[in-house]
Amino acid sequence: MNLNCHKIFLFLLISSSATAKIHDENSQNAVSEPTTQAVEVLEPSIEEIKIEEGTCFHADLVQEDFCYNRTQKSSCECENIRDFVICCNVTDITKSISCLENSNFRNIHIINVTQSEINLSNLNSLKQVDSLVITDGNISKILGQFSKFTSIKCLNFSNNNITEVSERALLNLSQLKTLDLSRNNITKLPTIQNITVNIQGNSKVSCINITTILDKVTFLNKEKSYCESEVGSGWFNDKASITIDHIEKRIKFDFECPEECKCKPGNMHYKKIDDKDESDVLIFISEVDCSNQGLTKLPVKLPENTISLNITNNSISSLSDLVTNEHYQSIQKLYADDNLITSVVDLEGTKFLENFTILSLKNNKIKDIPYYILSNLEKNLIGKYLYLGGNRLTCDCHIIKNIRHWRLINDCDKILCNNMPAKILELKESQLCKSGIDDWANYIEYLIIIEVLLLVALFTKVSYDCYVFKKTGLLPYPANVLILYNQK
Ligand SMILES: *[C@@H]1O[C@H](CO)[C@@H](O)[C@H](O)[C@H]1NC(C)=O
Ligand SMILES: *[C@@H]1O[C@H](CO)[C@@H](O)[C@H](O)[C@H]1NC(C)=O
Ligand SMILES: *[C@@H]1O[C@H](CO)[C@@H](O)[C@H](O)[C@H]1NC(C)=O
Ligand SMILES: *[C@@H]1O[C@H](CO)[C@@H](O)[C@H](O)[C@H]1NC(C)=O
Ligand SMILES: *[C@@H]1O[C@H](CO)[C@@H](O)[C@H](O)[C@H]1NC(C)=O
Ligand SMILES: *[C@@H]1O[C@H](CO)[C@@H](O)[C@H](O)[C@H]1NC(C)=O
Ligand SMILES: *[C@@H]1O[C@H](CO)[C@@H](O)[C@H](O)[C@H]1NC(C)=O
Ligand SMILES: *[C@@H]1O[C@H](CO)[C@@H](O)[C@H](O)[C@H]1NC(C)=O
Ligand SMILES: *[C@@H]1O[C@H](CO)[C@@H](O)[C@H](O)[C@H]1NC(C)=O
Ligand SMILES: *[C@@H]1O[C@H](CO)[C@@H](O)[C@H](O)[C@H]1NC(C)=O
Ligand SMILES: *[C@@H]1O[C@H](CO)[C@@H](O)[C@H](O)[C@H]1NC(C)=O
Ligand SMILES: *[C@@H]1O[C@H](CO)[C@@H](O)[C@H](O)[C@H]1NC(C)=O
Repeated sequence: MNLNCHKIFLFLLISSSATAKIHDENSQNAVSEPTTQAVEVLEPSIEEIKIEEGTCFHADLVQEDFCYNRTQKSSCECENIRDFVICCNVTDITKSISCLENSNFRNIHIINVTQSEINLSNLNSLKQVDSLVITDGNISKILGQFSKFTSIKCLNFSNNNITEVSERALLNLSQLKTLDLSRNNITKLPTIQNITVNIQGNSKVSCINITTILDKVTFLNKEKSYCESEVGSGWFNDKASITIDHIEKRIKFDFECPEECKCKPGNMHYKKIDDKDESDVLIFISEVDCSNQGLTKLPVKLPENTISLNITNNSISSLSDLVTNEHYQSIQKLYADDNLITSVVDLEGTKFLENFTILSLKNNKIKDIPYYILSNLEKNLIGKYLYLGGNRLTCDCHIIKNIRHWRLINDCDKILCNNMPAKILELKESQLCKSGIDDWANYIEYLIIIEVLLLVALFTKVSYDCYVFKKTGLLPYPANVLILYNQK
């Protein structure tokens, strides 16, 4: 019984696929003939069509290059395919829709509209659709507005050369989720909220317009969506074209600025990335000024990519954050004049030391500069500026011996000594280096000279004794004493 059931089922399967084959062949033969059979060619694949979340219906889902491969069967530019409609080379949207056999469809893709203006108020026949897709055409203006109770959820106006969309165009689309305006020439966005928008490929959109809706709208491809910023708007002074991503960072940047500091966006920094669309990506860099705030510690947080920090005239004593705090990773310029910094030992072997361009530590409490800092400076001197004027170092013979390295410090003429009233450049070797104990190397030298002199003296004495003995037979006094003692 069970077996029979299977057999029957199997038979049904085979016969159904067989008829499908026959059907296929029939329709292929019928291609040249007009009418509905041509449409059926496409049908087998339609059942598989799945419109992905966040995208609208697209003719490519039915067949790639649909309009090129289609053979027009009637004067109607549009075609029903189940509940999809695809229209090609349309000269008037309203007219081409009106000739459809079945007007009860949910998804429509209208390709290559050559109409220069579309008045949305006249598209009442599209009120019931989920996806309205009008792409790859030559529309310059979208006028009017969708009428009330239009149920469109996904709207795609990509690649049409649109320069203008009326401000109120989409106000009545209460169910709209996705709006694709990519590859057009729009300057102002219509009023929108709570939707996902793609404006990539519109280089003339006003940045201010985008700023006002950033929290209401989700933009796609932010890194590649450019907008135009009014020159002199204060935000991005040297660049008129910036990305949405960059605007967001700018806003975040204001939040990240420590309370007691002033943060300002620095010059743009361009980073090449390997991408066909846009090869330059703007990287946001910031300069932070926390001077004159009575700080005793470095700020705990800094905006992303802070390259310059001014903490002049505070009561900061340690630079260890520069090494341990991740927010300080990008710092290249540090202005820390007039603080209470006692040491730069923390900086040994750090990325900062290797890559800084300006380190200004004038008028601090530094007593000693480790030798490796100076030798590091010598190794990569180009583009580095180090200021230490007004610090009072413990001056000794070392400084004089290595004065060549000290001269690499840009204001070395202003570095003072704490153990004598002098600047380091005024130190004299004779002053500091002859007091032997101070200078172990010299002490050893003297010792060696004395030893050599003693050796020479000893040798001379022995030679003299030898000479006297040969001539007179007299031994030197100690030898005489020894002989006498022996004879006893
Ligand atoms: C809109 O149409 C364009 C061009 O055909 C396509 O690349 C894009 O993915 C579509 N957008 C959505 C959201 O479906
Ligand atoms: C639309 O225009 C293109 C380009 O001229 C042409 O190749 C295509 O066959 C036309 N499609 C229809 C359906 O007329
Ligand atoms: C559609 O036409 C293009 C040429 O425009 C061709 O490369 C492609 O193979 C055709 N696709 C089908 C399914 O016929
Ligand atoms: C768009 O359609 C017009 C005819 O309406 C045709 O002349 C033109 O070549 C088509 N363009 C494309 C890109 O298919
Ligand atoms: C596109 O429309 C503009 C006017 O809006 C017209 O000047 C231009 O010739 C049209 N281009 C095509 C390819 O139809
Ligand atoms: C759009 O069409 C509506 C209704 O037909 C009309 O009242 C309105 O003036 C049109 N708008 C424009 C800008 O042409
Ligand atoms: C885009 O529209 C402008 C006029 O609004 C026209 O000058 C230009 O040729 C159009 N570009 C294309 C690619 O159709
Ligand atoms: C964008 O529109 C301006 C005029 O508003 C026109 O000069 C420019 O050529 C257009 N750009 C494109 C890519 O169509
Ligand atoms: C864009 O700016 C224009 C005027 O500058 C305004 O009318 C419009 O509402 C703004 N759009 C959005 C989405 O803020
Ligand atoms: C937008 O979404 C938020 C939460 O997601 C909701 O509270 C708000 O009512 C929505 N606004 C509109 C106009 O749909
Ligand atoms: C750092 O701050 C001090 C005090 O406000 C100021 O005089 C100095 O010019 C600033 N340095 C830089 C490089 O901005
Ligand atoms: C120093 O900066 C250069 C480029 O400015 C970079 O290639 C290098 O990795 C940096 N060194 C360290 C230790 O980060």
